[in-house]
Amino acid sequence: MLQLVYVSTAAPGVSEREVQQILARSRANNARNLLTGLLYFDGLRFMQVLEGAPDRIEATYARITADPRHRALVVVSRRTIEAREFGNWAMAYGLSFGERQALGNKVSALVEGASPAVRGIFEGFLAARRAA
Ligand SMILES: Cc1cc2nc3c(=O)[nH]c(=O)nc-3n(C[C@H](O)[C@H](O)[C@H](O)COP(=O)(O)O)c2cc1C
Repeated sequence: MLQLVYVSTAAPGVSEREVQQILARSRANNARNLLTGLLYFDGLRFMQVLEGAPDRIEATYARITADPRHRALVVVSRRTIEAREFGNWAMAYGLSFGERQALGNKVSALVEGASPAVRGIFEGFLAARRAA
C-alpha cells in the first residue's frame, strides 16, 4: 500500500465553502477507491495524506494536481506502508482560520496514529505557519 503526503497553496479567493465542497467530493470518491487520509487547510495552504492502492493514489493525485483551486504542489513524503495510518477516514479534516491553539490540538489528535515521520511533517508544517 502507498502513502503520499503533499503540501500546496490555495488559489487566491478559495473560501471555506469551496473547501467543504472539495471535502464532500473527496470523501465520496475516496470511499469508492478505498483511499483513506487527511486533509488539512489553514486558510492558505493545504496538506493532504492519501493512502491506499498505488494505482488509485496515482489516478487521484493526477486529478488533484490538475485542480485550479490550488497550486505549487510539493510531495513531502511517498512511501510504502504495511497498514493504514488514517484508516478510519475517507478524508479527515482540520481547519484553522485563527484558532491556532485548538487546531494544533485537533491536528495532533488526527495524526495520533501516524508514523513519527508523518507526525513530524505535520508538526513542522504547523510550526512554519505559526512563525509566518
Ligand atoms: C486540496 C485538494 C484536495 C483534494 N483531494 C481530493 C481527494 O482526496 N480525492 C478526490 O477524489 N478528489 C480530491 N480533490 C478534488 C479533485 O481535484 C477533483 O476535483 C475531483 O477528484 C474530481 O472528482 P469528480 O470527477 O468526481 O468530479 C482535491 C482537490 C483539492 C484542491
